[in-house]
Amino acid sequence: MSDIDEENAPKIHVTDQQGNEHELMALEGWRVMEIIRDYGLPIKAECGGACACATCHVYVDQDWLAKIPDPTDEEIERLDDAFDVEENSRLSCQIIFNDGLDGLRVTLAPGTEP
Ligand code: FES
Repeated sequence: MSDIDEENAPKIHVTDQQGNEHELMALEGWRVMEIIRDYGLPIKAECGGACACATCHVYVDQDWLAKIPDPTDEEIERLDDAFDVEENSRLSCQIIFNDGLDGLRVTLAPGTEP
């Protein structure tokens, strides 16, 4: 018997570059990028979460923007390297999941495909 109660586990909702929505089980302390990558969704995340590549760029749903800690200067600087940056752009490797983010919605930005 698995000790993970999938039904009640926290989830994130990810829309891929084709517009398909995926519901992913999320684990506290994981980077949102790692959750997306572990499910096999198309995210390049070239630098593995070191805030050095901007290929984990996502758009955060407006309802969630204020619930995520503000980006560091390093993240803001790195986002300059991303394509199609919007005011709700974030690097998913810099968002650490916690249970307060249960239900988070993000969309993979163009240019993040592997
Ligand atoms: S994985 Fe490289 S900046 Fe996020």
